Amino acid sequence: MTNKTLEITPQKPLGAVITLPSYTNDPSKLNDDDFAKLKSALLTYSVLVIKNQQDLSPESQHALNVRFDPSSATNYGHKEELFHSKKSILAKDGRCVPRRPEVMMVGNGSFDEGHEGMKEFKLEHPMHKTFHKKLLTEEELEAGQTRFYRWHIDAALYELSPPVVTTLLGLVVPNSSERQKIVYEDTGEEIDIAKGATAFASGKIAFDLLSDEDKAFVLDTTVDSKVKILPMVWTNPETGNHHLQVHGCCVYRLLDSKGNVVAELEDARKICQRLMRPAIGPSNVYCHDWKEGDLCIFHNRGVIHSVTGELDPNEKRLMHQCNIASGSDPELVIR
Ligand SMILES: [Fe+2]
Repeated sequence: MTNKTLEITPQKPLGAVITLPSYTNDPSKLNDDDFAKLKSALLTYSVLVIKNQQDLSPESQHALNVRFDPSSATNYGHKEELFHSKKSILAKDGRCVPRRPEVMMVGNGSFDEGHEGMKEFKLEHPMHKTFHKKLLTEEELEAGQTRFYRWHIDAALYELSPPVVTTLLGLVVPNSSERQKIVYEDTGEEIDIAKGATAFASGKIAFDLLSDEDKAFVLDTTVDSKVKILPMVWTNPETGNHHLQVHGCCVYRLLDSKGNVVAELEDARKICQRLMRPAIGPSNVYCHDWKEGDLCIFHNRGVIHSVTGELDPNEKRLMHQCNIASGSDPELVIR
């Protein structure tokens, strides 16, 4: 079957599967009409999945990111010196593709010489143990439990503007018949997910689930990360929808629109947790079950996301990830 134009199949609660037109299997090379449809779908459905992309080169992946946000052309998502600084919490999470360093290799296990011009290299999957104070017990791990590692936006939020888009290409992934589960500590609810699934929660759903009083609050509140102050709500430039977008681990304090302090660190984090918790509930998250060759493109200003999965040290997983800081900050637009 051939299709002349790009096809979009929306999923619930968020996301869409994209079928590329028959003239190309490289999404960076779509004609202008099809690329416009792809971009509109990204901003509308927040997460796009394109299958069979195992041959997508780092050059094409980078070109695709830049095509979504031309203002990012000269920037880095996690400015290289920040990412590779020994002080960075992200320093051990990835390696750059040598000839296209905006594309990071992330994953788990050891890889032989030859991949993208690399010598032998080793990657370590970020597991809950590196980011949680209270760890799962041995019994819970034996029973296949994992956790959301850390809900976040891909953004350094130092002096850089959050990337509009992240592309994530699964090259080597655990067999998705291997399942793990997340048990919500506050409600006891459980979700069954593929090992190493990437979880997404919609900032639009987060906003829509708020009470009228909370909506008024978030629309009047900004998040101070000590270096950058951004609105708590970012307006989608395609749909006009409001997305509650808080980069949780960078919250220092909350301010109102006049710049008065609404909450200092501890209270600020409690408020953000209360406001955003409903959006990560079992029926509101999409957990992508990786198959080799899957390309996930997500609107980094419209969703929060998290790694999941407890992997053995020798278990192999290899992804190519690209996100590049934008030329401008996200905005709240009230019509
Ligand atoms: Fe991320």
